[in-house]
Amino acid sequence: MADKKVIAVIGSTGTQGGGLCDAILSDPTGGFACRAITRDPGKDKAKALAARGAEVVKADLDDVESLKRAFAGAYAVYGVTNFWEHFSADKEKAQAKNIAEAARAAGVTHVIWSTLEDTRKLMAPDDKRMPFLQGKYRVPHFDAKAEANAYFEGLPTTYLVTSFYWDNFYLFGLGPKKDDKGVYSWTLPLGNAKVAGIAGEDIGKTAYGVFKAGAQYIGKTVGIVGQALTVREMADKIAKGLGLSGIQYHAVEPDAYRGFGFPGADELGNMFQVYRDFEAQVLGARSEALTRQLNPGLLTFDAWLAKNRDKVRASTEPAPAAT
Ligand SMILES: NC(=O)c1ccc[n+]([C@@H]2O[C@H](COP(=O)([O-])OP(=O)(O)OC[C@H]3O[C@@H](n4cnc5c(N)ncnc54)[C@H](OP(=O)(O)O)[C@@H]3O)[C@@H](O)[C@H]2O)c1
Repeated sequence: MADKKVIAVIGSTGTQGGGLCDAILSDPTGGFACRAITRDPGKDKAKALAARGAEVVKADLDDVESLKRAFAGAYAVYGVTNFWEHFSADKEKAQAKNIAEAARAAGVTHVIWSTLEDTRKLMAPDDKRMPFLQGKYRVPHFDAKAEANAYFEGLPTTYLVTSFYWDNFYLFGLGPKKDDKGVYSWTLPLGNAKVAGIAGEDIGKTAYGVFKAGAQYIGKTVGIVGQALTVREMADKIAKGLGLSGIQYHAVEPDAYRGFGFPGADELGNMFQVYRDFEAQVLGARSEALTRQLNPGLLTFDAWLAKNRDKVRASTEPAPAAT
């Protein structure tokens, strides 16, 4: 361990950081050690990482001093914030600022900041196709991360532009659903656009490839994607993979989707509209070839589905009726 380069991983118990910890721990001769950061070292996922050889360290993104301690002596930092825990662009930026400040204090050699594009640059300020949210954002969890890029200036940073996780279909109920007549349907405001998607686990695995490549990607923006597919294409693959006769696709308008009323419906409505209306720009900002070069095991949609078939199937079931 002593001669290995320590990568301090924020979000180690989550999708992105968890994939990176798994990549480091699965490569014992790779020259890197995993420092898994969590607010709760006692949780099962943290204990599982410790059992595999990770150094588990407690820190909180809201407490910059805890991050400085957690990054001390590390070679590199993987920085990610979790918008969906609080839904606040301001809080996300404050947490990103803390990551950058602590990485600067620790003098690390490489930082990966998990970011997204500034969707405001795709539309004129008076474009009425979608509302502004939280005062000045089109898609707050994209735009806040892009604004936060500025905190990392002057640090040896790779800006990792991620893609939509296919795992959202079972993790957040965004996948197809079966109705009480056994008919499967999928409602998304994505028209016929190809959506830049990725297996969640591949974000961390690709980040590991960036760390292994080292200085080559410092100061660079790396846009990653597993495969770009339309909803129709994904629906057909899921139907085939689950042995269903078919999945109906209801390509609703973004305005209707924003009105569905669930928490984050307006945010997701705007995000999906960006994927739909600015398909070329979103796809152009990501390279499947580079992602595969950094992560040769990159999963296609079919390979991801084969690994997650049971979870996807379970998520199609209607929620049990309230009693
Ligand atoms: N879902 C998508 O399709 C998608 C696509 C692109 C980008 N993203 C972005 O990905 C981010 C979420 O990443 P994820 O999916 O890997 O998250 P996740 O699986 O929900 O896990 C969240 C991770 O963040 C850590 N965390 C949250 N708040 C923290 C705090 N205050 N201090 C320390 N650690 C904290 C948690 O650690 P502990 O709970 O153990 O402390 C946990 O490991 C979001 O900002 C989202 O915008 C998502």
